[in-house]
Amino acid sequence: MLRRLIATAALLTAALTLAPPAAAADAPLRDLAEARGRYLGTAVTAGKLTGGYADVAAAQFGSLTPGNEMKWGSVEATRGTYDWTGADRVVAFAEAHGQRVRGHTLVWHSQLPAWVTGGTWTADRLRTLMTDHIAAEAGRYKGRIDHWDVVNEPLNEDGTLRQSVFGATLGESYVADAFRAARAADPAAKLYLNDYSTDAIGAKSDGMYALVERLLAQGVPVDGVGFQAHLVLGQVPASLEANLRRFAELGVDVAITELDIRMPLPATEAKLAQQKADYAAVQRACLAVTRCAGVTVWGFTDSDSWIPDFFPGQGAATPYDEALAPKPARAGLAEALAPDTPPAPGVCSVTYAVTSQWTGGFTAQVTVRNTGTAPLNGWTVRWTQPAGQRVTQAWNATATQTGAEVTATNLSYNATVPPGGSTAFGFNGSWSGTNPPPTAFACS
Ligand code: XIL
Repeated sequence: MLRRLIATAALLTAALTLAPPAAAADAPLRDLAEARGRYLGTAVTAGKLTGGYADVAAAQFGSLTPGNEMKWGSVEATRGTYDWTGADRVVAFAEAHGQRVRGHTLVWHSQLPAWVTGGTWTADRLRTLMTDHIAAEAGRYKGRIDHWDVVNEPLNEDGTLRQSVFGATLGESYVADAFRAARAADPAAKLYLNDYSTDAIGAKSDGMYALVERLLAQGVPVDGVGFQAHLVLGQVPASLEANLRRFAELGVDVAITELDIRMPLPATEAKLAQQKADYAAVQRACLAVTRCAGVTVWGFTDSDSWIPDFFPGQGAATPYDEALAPKPARAGLAEALAPDTPPAPGVCSVTYAVTSQWTGGFTAQVTVRNTGTAPLNGWTVRWTQPAGQRVTQAWNATATQTGAEVTATNLSYNATVPPGGSTAFGFNGSWSGTNPPPTAFACS
């Protein structure tokens, strides 16, 4: 029983970097990124670009992506009738504020006009429809778009070609044709293939890698690969950096194109601290790969995020809260981008294991490991009890619980943890119903 509990107990880690000097944290994110030779961008909603929303978008971000306004269904809902209002508005705003634009997206299976999905097309007819659409849209913004997501989400989860209307009717050749049409329409734009769940090394990213290899071998003008990075709290893939690097080594640029990091609502201090570490980790992975052009967040405020609508019960996925106040995630980006970030001082990670459990009670062991290069001089671990558990007694730490929030701090004898070293504390708790482990820890 004991072995099973230990084996099934989630091992959770959290890392929090101590704040660097205030100056770096206060500088606009776009300037910090620019100083590192990258851009930091955001998706925006054209209709919201006024007031405080516009102020933050302009001040903090060096690149804008229209969240929906350039999709085929937005620009040509009725065949032959174009509405460029929203797309024009984002491009004009970006130009007025010295920002680049990531065009999103020319060919995608989703948010297509009904007349495209509902039609019956021969292969030749569909190919011409697609290349005409690319010529019209990329042509309209010729010379004003930094990157185009030419083809979005071409793959299935197993890395094979998605059987969208394009894939099913035209096979893989549609991807090559789309890139050639985009190059002809706007020779200056960098042309990207973009997908989700390709962030880690795995079946889907292997499929993307092989697709890019084939396209390059055919001389197809693919300039970059976008990794959407719609991530889950505490689950930044360990292989993200290595994955970006292997694509870069194929001879293409890479970019993080739609970063958000969702959490089960409500947000708590511990989850927001984990999210800060996660945002910083993604930003650092991009900085570590020379050909990573930049990071775009998919909405900069929680009030303009698609997550609550698409992942019920989840949210708080962006770096600013609903009132446009910066969250710890924003500081995570700033700290990762800061020019003089000291080499990770005071960084710790946490491992949690239930070592025994009985009706109404349990014992947990929490290990604090110093993953930085300087000694930890005193430490604090914070977490949220997910199912009403109460700490009844702690040893080797002082633990207090307010509502669901627990704070545990060192005693004097175990305050100092050398780099690479660890120390452990334990507690007895009460539970009823279920006893799930906390989903995140903040450690500082
Ligand atoms: C999302 C938008 O943010 C939502 O407003 C819309 O309702 C659905 O699409 N991958 C993509 C983006 O490439 O275009 C999607 O954007 C999010 C997932």
